[in-house]
Amino acid sequence: MKEPARHTVTAALPYANGPLHIGHIAGAYLPADIHVRHLRQLGKEVLFICGSDEHGAAITIRAMKEGTTPRAIVDQYHALMGQAFKDLGIHFDIYHRTSSPLHKETSQGFFLKLLENGAFHVQEEQQYYDQEAKQFLADRYIMGTCPSCGNPDAYGDQCEKCGSALSPKDLKDPRSTLSGASPVLKPTQHWYLKMDEAQQWVDAWINTGVLDGEAHHDPSEWKPQVLGQCNSWLKDGLRPRAMTRDLDWGVPVPLPGAVGKVLYVWLDAPIGYISATKQWALDKGQDWEKWWKADDTRLLHFIGKDNIVFHCIIFPILLKLHGGFILPQNVPANEFLNLEGNKISTSRNWAVWLHEYLERWPGRQDELRYCLATILPEFRDSEFTWKDFQDKNNNELVAVLGNFVQRVFVLCHKYYDGRSPAAGPRLDQDQDLWSAVHGSVEEVARHITHFRYRDALLAAMNVARAGNRYLSDSEPWKLEKSDPERTRSILANSLNVAAVLSIILEPFLPHTTEKLRRMLGLSILPWGDTFRSDLVGAGQALGKPEHLFKPITDAEIQPEIDRLHSITPVEQQPSTAAASAKAVNPQPAKAAITFDDFAKLDLRVGTITAAERVPKADKLLKLTIDVGESAPRTVVSGIAQHYSPEELPGQHVVLVANLEPRKMRGVESQGMVLMAEDVSGKLVFVQPKQVIGPGAEVR
Ligand code: 2FM
Ligand code: ZN
Repeated sequence: MKEPARHTVTAALPYANGPLHIGHIAGAYLPADIHVRHLRQLGKEVLFICGSDEHGAAITIRAMKEGTTPRAIVDQYHALMGQAFKDLGIHFDIYHRTSSPLHKETSQGFFLKLLENGAFHVQEEQQYYDQEAKQFLADRYIMGTCPSCGNPDAYGDQCEKCGSALSPKDLKDPRSTLSGASPVLKPTQHWYLKMDEAQQWVDAWINTGVLDGEAHHDPSEWKPQVLGQCNSWLKDGLRPRAMTRDLDWGVPVPLPGAVGKVLYVWLDAPIGYISATKQWALDKGQDWEKWWKADDTRLLHFIGKDNIVFHCIIFPILLKLHGGFILPQNVPANEFLNLEGNKISTSRNWAVWLHEYLERWPGRQDELRYCLATILPEFRDSEFTWKDFQDKNNNELVAVLGNFVQRVFVLCHKYYDGRSPAAGPRLDQDQDLWSAVHGSVEEVARHITHFRYRDALLAAMNVARAGNRYLSDSEPWKLEKSDPERTRSILANSLNVAAVLSIILEPFLPHTTEKLRRMLGLSILPWGDTFRSDLVGAGQALGKPEHLFKPITDAEIQPEIDRLHSITPVEQQPSTAAASAKAVNPQPAKAAITFDDFAKLDLRVGTITAAERVPKADKLLKLTIDVGESAPRTVVSGIAQHYSPEELPGQHVVLVANLEPRKMRGVESQGMVLMAEDVSGKLVFVQPKQVIGPGAEVR
């Protein structure tokens, strides 16, 4: 195992079908960013790669539900995610996208090379086909009853209720989510990767770290849960897996006769790391190949636990069968982050969305980075709560780190007019301080190197704790008159401890350390400088004492907790003026009604002419709807989580016009807008397909 000359660090490409939440950040992106920042501090050559995964059935399904195109969906979320990463200080060298022409060319080239090397066999199999929609159905396009738990709404690849991994043929009473029809089995061809033939070397590589007769990595450095998942696959025996799918959105299989077939995520997303590297190299006039082919490059994949087998078995097999590529040195996958006692759920909106956090807590990026770094699910699932976020901010960032820096700066301004004093001879107390600091610094580096960021951050904060203890024990404010020289020395040491903090906390809190460096008059410093105790020289002008952090009050936290509970789970939302019909997730049928019952409903087509938020109600919008009467109606509708007021004027809707008026948040609602709700909780308007004047009756 050679000492690496450079590091290629990848973070899982997130699907561009929805925004990022804190679970994604804690799963892969924050640990990757901390690791990369530390490598850069060590002076290593690093390339940090990510991008949007813009293919897959989840995207086409979302587009279909929203009546838009996959392109529009991925454009929207690629921009949103890229910006959110940047704002949180997750700095990739490139944030690329898999819908780019360069990616298409790269992944198709990869496929063809594998084909040439005999990596695939073509197999015909029976697959579900929707005769109405005239297409083969990707696993996610099929729903049916789970054979394990009886959930009637299990997907073709997984039951979200009991977590069983499924294949479409396991489902009872399968139905197409495209048309609702029962699909039929029809033969189709796919390219299967001969994973069975790789069983032996993959096993040896993962468990002994030996590849082609040479030591490649130390398996004891891999996380136990990563080895555990790999070994459970290996124990069952690797089986050939289809690397292609029948779908019209993705990288087309580059062969004549493969019309309507695309590369599956396994042969698409990770090749995205390579195409991103190529794009970065083109942009910078650099060579891309050394980042993937040189044996003194160390490749690291940061991912969540759902992608372990993908990155530890499937992608390495692809790389090896292609030839010429290095394999990952480690795949430090994290477990999952839960939220306030429940699993994070995108479909139920049980999540803290990153872009919303950044909007609601401007300038507080490091508070989130800190809290998440202290609870990273490194070895087991962990949990975020707003209370813990508040406690960690108040008791650690404010009370320990902010307080130490504040005390030192206030005293230096008071006694020395904002100039740093000179250190005198070292006493035992100073020696103790510096050996505690240097001990912690060593620990920080060791833990980061071993992917233990929680421990690393704890060790880094111990430096601030040591600084506070030193100040409290030496009480310079009592000595200033009687022993000015000793006072100067204590404050010089303290300032230099703050300087060390500005280095060791940089991977975790880059915005704070930038501020701290400004206050200390320092530029960005390498890791090697953490062992110096003279970074802030005597006479150096110091910035104003600034609070690095502000306490967070209960009043600031409560709305976050309320917001979460008010919008989740979707099915338990208090009834609002939005009626819902689950089109792709049929609810148990309600009792039959007579035609006369139905005829009591006065359903009218209307046009929304204005919309605004209802103050202090996250879910409600106040709509003004023209239903052809002398005055428009006011309707309060619970759709604020789904539509912004700006996008509504002009929308045609169907109104229950004879519903008894009802006051909501002080506004009288004169009717109810009909909405359809899908399994993910998404609400869309029930609308006439053709334009028809307001007031038209629906029957
Ligand atoms: O599971 C996912 O989120 C996919 N977008 C794949 C991520 S890993 C990949 F980038 F290789
Ligand atoms: Zn189930």
